[in-house]
Amino acid sequence: MLKGRNLLEPMDFTIEELKELFNLADQIIQNPELFRKACDGKILATLFYEPSTRTRFSFEAAMLRLGGQVIGFSEPNSSSVAKGESITDTIRTVACYADLAVIRHPKEGAPKVAAACTDMPVINAGDGGHQHPTQTLTDLLTIWKERGGFENLTIGLCGDLKFGRTVHSLIKALYRYKNVSFVLISPEELRIPDYVRKEILIKNKIPFEEVENMQEVLPKLDILYMTRVQRERFFNEEDYVRLKDRYILDGAKMKLAREDMMVLHPLPRVNEISVEVDDDPRALYFKQARYGMYIRMALIMSLLGTEPKEV
Ligand code: CP
Repeated sequence: MLKGRNLLEPMDFTIEELKELFNLADQIIQNPELFRKACDGKILATLFYEPSTRTRFSFEAAMLRLGGQVIGFSEPNSSSVAKGESITDTIRTVACYADLAVIRHPKEGAPKVAAACTDMPVINAGDGGHQHPTQTLTDLLTIWKERGGFENLTIGLCGDLKFGRTVHSLIKALYRYKNVSFVLISPEELRIPDYVRKEILIKNKIPFEEVENMQEVLPKLDILYMTRVQRERFFNEEDYVRLKDRYILDGAKMKLAREDMMVLHPLPRVNEISVEVDDDPRALYFKQARYGMYIRMALIMSLLGTEPKEV
């Protein structure tokens, strides 16, 4: 049962709980009409201390499509945060008005701090360069729907693996499935942090390799997960400029890949996938963004413990 729980880390939910969530998302995809009033009378608060398009809009669209309502801010300076209010005081206040809160914050661990001071369920919508568990749910639903499961997959993760929180979360979620291996493609400076390499991959004896050359590993991948270089997390612009266009997936590189390789990207994209790839049937990143709304509908319903209602 997920009712009343938080989602702060990708591993907060068991494999069985995730399966229930995917099944519910699938029911919503098959029959959205049935869920039109599932959250009637409920209020979702979206507290975005950092910019977002997909995460905020998909959460808000999800709640509206479930018949609930949404309050919140996308610009913290439009709230009392601008007057110096702490995140704990903000969340205590929001809990007086809403049933569920979604928080994106530049500081790692901020949603966890917020969750500790309220009984209202709190969802981490991205905390600094740390984790992004609902993007992971989105990625998993996409793989589950398009590939049928998570076992026996070779997953290439490419780009900014140091600051890319979606990569950290995806590895943490996927390593639990049978016969999964990772190919980590990045420049030396943007390799995955040690807490992922040592505490997840090495500790659990998960096969992985770290490479710099994308072309040489493309033919063996079942999934290629591209990421942008996270400009906002760099300490100096010079390093960003030097690294930003290191990997660009284009039509020529796609010819090296399998005919059924899935190309995923959490988006936003900058230059790392050429627009010519968008028409390739293997390019699933906009479909992935759509799945993000359905999995968030399933998540909202599950944390609130709501059911489909007669309309
Ligand atoms: N994937 C993702 O988190 O996108 P936004 O930053 O637009 O929410």
